[in-house]
Amino acid sequence: MKASILTQALGLLLSLGLIVEAKASSAKKYSRTEACKPHQPFHPLPISQARTKTCHVASHGNGADDSKNILSALHKCNNGGKVVFDEDKTYTVGTALDMTFLKHVDLEVLGTIKFTNDTDYWQTNAFKQIYQNATTFFQLGGEDVNLYGGGTLDGNGQVWYDLYAEDALILRPILVGVIGLHGGTIGPLKLRYSPQWYHFVANSSNVLFEGIDISGYSSSKNTAKNTDGWDLYRSSNIVIQDSIINNGDDCVSFKPNSTEIIVQNLHCNGSHGISVGSLGQYPGEVDIVENLLIYNISMFNASDGARIKVWPGVSSALSTDLQGGGGSGSVKNVTYDTMTIDNVDYAIEVTQCYGQKNLTLCNQYPSKLTIADVLFTNIKGTTSGKYDPDVGTIVCSSETVCSNIEATNIDVSSPDGDDEFVCTNVDEVMEDQAAVCSMLKSM
Ligand SMILES: *[C@@H]1O[C@H](CO)[C@@H](O)[C@H](O)[C@H]1NC(C)=O
Ligand SMILES: *[C@@H]1O[C@H](CO)[C@@H](O)[C@H](O)[C@H]1NC(C)=O
Ligand SMILES: *[C@@H]1O[C@H](CO)[C@@H](O)[C@H](O)[C@H]1NC(C)=O
Ligand SMILES: *[C@@H]1O[C@H](CO)[C@@H](O)[C@H](O)[C@H]1NC(C)=O
Ligand SMILES: *[C@@H]1O[C@H](CO)[C@@H](O)[C@H](O)[C@H]1NC(C)=O
Ligand SMILES: *[C@@H]1O[C@H](CO)[C@@H](O)[C@H](O)[C@H]1NC(C)=O
Ligand SMILES: *[C@@H]1O[C@H](CO)[C@@H](O)[C@H](O)[C@H]1NC(C)=O
Ligand SMILES: *[C@@H]1O[C@H](CO)[C@@H](O)[C@H](O)[C@H]1NC(C)=O
Ligand SMILES: *[C@@H]1O[C@H](CO)[C@@H](O)[C@H](O)[C@H]1NC(C)=O
Repeated sequence: MKASILTQALGLLLSLGLIVEAKASSAKKYSRTEACKPHQPFHPLPISQARTKTCHVASHGNGADDSKNILSALHKCNNGGKVVFDEDKTYTVGTALDMTFLKHVDLEVLGTIKFTNDTDYWQTNAFKQIYQNATTFFQLGGEDVNLYGGGTLDGNGQVWYDLYAEDALILRPILVGVIGLHGGTIGPLKLRYSPQWYHFVANSSNVLFEGIDISGYSSSKNTAKNTDGWDLYRSSNIVIQDSIINNGDDCVSFKPNSTEIIVQNLHCNGSHGISVGSLGQYPGEVDIVENLLIYNISMFNASDGARIKVWPGVSSALSTDLQGGGGSGSVKNVTYDTMTIDNVDYAIEVTQCYGQKNLTLCNQYPSKLTIADVLFTNIKGTTSGKYDPDVGTIVCSSETVCSNIEATNIDVSSPDGDDEFVCTNVDEVMEDQAAVCSMLKSM
C-alpha cells in the first residue's frame, strides 16, 4: 500500500536525520489567536509564517561557550527557518546574546541551555534594561519569533543566590529577556534557577506565553529572592496561559505601561500573587496599567492572591536595593475573575502604601496614582490565617484616588473561619465603605 511505503520512507528519512519532524505547532503556519483559550486576546495575534529550512546548533559539549554556534545558526536560519537545540545536548552560554535581529524564525529547544556562573562577566555584560536596574542574560526580539520545544533554560542561579546574600546591590541577570518582540510564541519550556525574575517582557506586543514550567530553589541557606514569573513593562496585547510557576515572588507582575493583557489558567505556588505594580515608584513618571483580565488562577502558599501595589506620594525605602515613591499614573479596567486560594496570607490586597510602614506618612502624602474600575469576582478558598481575623485589605490613601472598586462572589475564610476585610477610602460604587466591607464579609 502506498501510504505505508510513504510512512516507511518518512521514518527512514527521519531516522537518518535528513528531515526534521514537524512536531511543534509553529513549524507550519499557525494561528496564535486560536491557541488562546478560553479568553481571546484583546486584539488578534499575527499568524506565524511557515518555516522552510532547519539549522541545528553545534555544541562543544564540554562546558565551553556555545554562543558563537548559536548566533551563526540564527543568522543562517533567520527569515523563514527553524533553529534546533538538540535533545541530548547541553549548550553552554557564556556570552550576552543580542537576538533582537530575529524575523520569522523558530528556536526549538529540545535539549538544555545553561548559562555560565561567571558572575563578574555577567554583571559587566548582561543587557542593562534600566528599569529597576534589571539586566538580562540575553535579549530576544524582532518579529514573528517562536521559542519552544519543551527543553530547559537553566540560569545556574545558586551562585547568584549566595552572592546576593553578601551584597544586595549586585545585578542578578533575568533568565529570559523578551525585548522589542512583536509577534511571538514562547513555550512550552522549562525554566530553572533564574538568578532573579524569570521573564522580563519589555517594549513588546502580540506575544503568547504558554506551557511554561518554572521552578528553582536554593540548595543553601540563602533563598532565591525576587524570582518573579513574569514582569511586563511597556508592553501590550500579551497572553500568558497554561503554566505552572513554583517561585518566591510575584507569579505575574504588571509593571508600568502594561496594557491589554490576558493571564489565564495558571497554577502558582509559593509566590506573592498576581500583582499590578509596584507603580508610582519614580517621581516624574506616569505609570499606566489598563485593560487586564486575570482568569482562572490557582494560588497556593502565597503572600497574596490578587494584588495592586502602589508606592506612597513621597519617596521611601523598602530595602537596600528597592526604594521609591512619588510617581503618578493610573490603574484602570482590571478584572480578577476566578481564583482559588490555599494557604495565602491575603486573598485580595490593594495598597497605596507600598514600601512604607509609616501609615501617617502615607496619609500625609497620598498616592498620585488613581485606581478605577477594578473587579474582583469568584474568589474562593482558605487563607493562611496570618492576618486573622482579616483575609483581605483594600486600602486607598485618599477618597479621591480610588473609584469603582468592586468585589462580588468572594468566598474566602481563614483556617479559623474568620472572613473580615479591611477597607479604607473605597466608597464609590458601593456607596460607602461599610457597604463594601459588609458586602465582602457577607459573602
Ligand atoms: C562554576 O562553574 C564551573 C564549571 O562548570 C565549576 O567548575 C565551578 O566550580 C563553578 N563555580 C562556582 C562558584 O559554583
Ligand atoms: C524601550 O524603548 C524605549 C524607547 O525607544 C527605550 O528608551 C528603552 O531603552 C527600551 N527598552 C526598555 C527595556 O525600556
Ligand atoms: C539601582 O542600583 C543602585 C546602586 O547600584 C541603587 O542605589 C539604586 O537604589 C538601585 N535602584 C533601584 C530602583 O533598585
Ligand atoms: C507610559 O505611558 C505614559 C502615557 O503614554 C507615558 O507618559 C509614560 O512616559 C510611559 N512610561 C514609560 C515608562 O514608558
Ligand atoms: C483552569 O486552569 C486549570 C489549570 O491550572 C485547568 O486545568 C482548568 O481546566 C481551567 N479551568 C477553566 C474553567 O478554564
Ligand atoms: C510550593 O511552595 C512551597 C513554599 O514555598 C514549597 O515549600 C514547595 O516545595 C513548593 N512546591 C513545589 C511543588 O515546588
Ligand atoms: C475592559 O476589559 C475587558 C476584559 O476584562 C474588555 O472586554 C473591555 O473591552 C475593556 N474595556 C475597555 C473600555 O477597553
Ligand atoms: C504548599 O506548601 C506545602 C508545604 O511546603 C506543600 O506541602 C504543598 O505541596 C504546597 N502546595 C503546592 C501546590 O505545591
Ligand atoms: C511617620 O511619618 C510622620 C509624617 O511624615 C512623621 O512625622 C513621623 O516621624 C514618622 N514616624 C516614624 C516612626 O518614622
